Amino acid sequence: MARIHLKKVVIVFVVLFFITPVILVIAYGVNCRNFISPLNEEDYRDAIAKKESPLKMKEDELKKYEERLNTLSVALRRQFPNAVEYILQILDDNIPTIYAITPTHTRHVQKAELVRLTNTFLHVKNFHWILVEDSEYRTPLVTNFLAQSGLRYTHLNTATPKNYKMKENDPHWLKPRGVEQRNLALDWLRENIDIATNSGVVYFADDDNTYSLQLFEEMRFTEKVSVWPVGITGGLKFERPIVGEDGKVKGWYAAWRPQRPFAMDMAGFALNLNLLKKYPNARFDITAKRGYLESSFLTQLVTLNELEPRAELCTKVLVWHTRTEKPKWKEEDAMIAKGQPSDPRVEV
Ligand code: UGA
Ligand code: MN
Repeated sequence: MARIHLKKVVIVFVVLFFITPVILVIAYGVNCRNFISPLNEEDYRDAIAKKESPLKMKEDELKKYEERLNTLSVALRRQFPNAVEYILQILDDNIPTIYAITPTHTRHVQKAELVRLTNTFLHVKNFHWILVEDSEYRTPLVTNFLAQSGLRYTHLNTATPKNYKMKENDPHWLKPRGVEQRNLALDWLRENIDIATNSGVVYFADDDNTYSLQLFEEMRFTEKVSVWPVGITGGLKFERPIVGEDGKVKGWYAAWRPQRPFAMDMAGFALNLNLLKKYPNARFDITAKRGYLESSFLTQLVTLNELEPRAELCTKVLVWHTRTEKPKWKEEDAMIAKGQPSDPRVEV
């Protein structure tokens, strides 16, 4: 009896052993196939999108908060310029500071240019403006302007030597401009910013150009010298570095003397602050031939092969070499001659 019972048990066991997998495969065949065969691309994309969508929503939310914080910061800094340092200490991110060096000189459009620049710079994170007046002294116009700007700034001055100073009716290219002012700012950085504890990038931002906000993020992480196209310059729609297949700069797209070592405008490059310490004597040469000012400085810092192309491998224009028209002042002079000058207390 017991033997028969055991036999039955063994038979049932053997049958179940072989049949169970078959039943399982039949029952879950479809799912098993999915499990065994790799997911097709579409399924993968769906699965990833499902996982990513809450992340993306959070990211968008964060971006919105960041924008609101930036707007608030700008509004606060404009309202309380004395508290700029305090506000920035709280809000500055742990990213390299952009030191923008701007030579500037007194003329009818100067304040208008400075307003345009300020309206851009206020939106750039970790930004320090070094404004250098081409003047024997710091003028009240620029001093007051900076004090209410809401920017972190340094105000310097040095007058261009008389023999290099442009005369009223000289063609604009006759003499180099802003040279001693930029050199003074470079010395100020060497003396006042501790490179060991401050990471930064130096950019020469003339007071009449037009700068996109994206430009500053392109230059932010520059190892040595980064480069990009400049719009409306050199008699062309744009000038730019020529970038090879390997992502390195091979030469220059420029109509005027493309054989110059660095055939680009001052607005077309930025350098790591640490190069100033590494090359303590590097400066702009006021005696450089026309168009060789940028080269006079850069040849002391980098080689062509070391340049870092930015703005999507130099395919995007993010800065424009705009030049502001000189205003007509004939009627103003006539009114002065007639003894009816406009109100001299109004600053323009
Ligand atoms: C072009 C480049 O864009 C300049 O960066 C470069 O300095 C100049 O050529 C040159 O080869 O020297 P461009 O637009 O013709 O410049 O020059 P400006 O914009 O008239 O001057 C460049 C900067 O120097 C401006 O920020 C301007 O305010 C300042 N500047 C000009 C002075 O400080 N003093 C002056 O007498 C004239
Ligand atoms: Mn200019």
